[in-house]
Amino acid sequence: MSKENEKTVKIYKEKASKYLETTIEHDNLNPEKAKHKREKLNKFLSDNLKYIPKGSKVFEIGSADGKNAKYIESLGFEVTASDIAEAFISECKDKKLKTSNFNILKDDFKEKYSAILAWRVFVHFTKDDIVSILQKTYNALEDGGVFIFNAINREIKNTDQEWVDFPNEYHMGAERFYKYFSKEELDEIIKNTDYKLQSFHKEGGENQNKWLVYVLKK
Ligand SMILES: C[S@@+](CC[C@H](N)C(=O)[O-])C[C@H]1O[C@@H](n2cnc3c(N)ncnc32)[C@H](O)[C@@H]1O
Repeated sequence: MSKENEKTVKIYKEKASKYLETTIEHDNLNPEKAKHKREKLNKFLSDNLKYIPKGSKVFEIGSADGKNAKYIESLGFEVTASDIAEAFISECKDKKLKTSNFNILKDDFKEKYSAILAWRVFVHFTKDDIVSILQKTYNALEDGGVFIFNAINREIKNTDQEWVDFPNEYHMGAERFYKYFSKEELDEIIKNTDYKLQSFHKEGGENQNKWLVYVLKK
């Protein structure tokens, strides 16, 4: 586990309640935009989980407020929402989700899953972290299962990595580690795994290129 992620996890553990508050503040600034983003993500999730047998197990890494996990559950899957901070776990429990306190870099998966999701979580990992996460998720998937994740595109940033506490409505009162990857870098990392690329696209930001979105298949 990188020192960068370890320190970031510590911050989330201390400030998860603040994160939940500021996420709501952020959404309230422009409810229409937030609604549109939610609907777009829901459509992406349902499209990509379409071929996964209903009733099978799906695991989300870094669920935070549990909205993704709740939506996936509504599609008919048996979902586990996970995170490393108690405030996030309790938020997911309030949504009646099955939960797990799970650090992807430290803990082992106890079951096999048809799909694993890590949405806006790769932002907090180094390259070495990601290499180990890809191996770990691959081992935890059923044959034919999918791993869905996104990462911030290095192209739109002027640095490879930074420690940030956003000054606006997303602030948490402490800096978190952010790592940015180019598509070429991620493709190279993925090439060294046994995953097959199921789909890739860019989305978000001013030029629809903020996020690199991958669906990998076992
Ligand atoms: C930017 S938030 C995204 C939350 C949620 N997935 C979403 O899209 O709204 C990043 C999440 O990653 C989680 N996280 C960071 N490091 C982690 C680790 N090592 N294991 C599991 N979760 C981690 C944080 O606790 C936080 O919930």
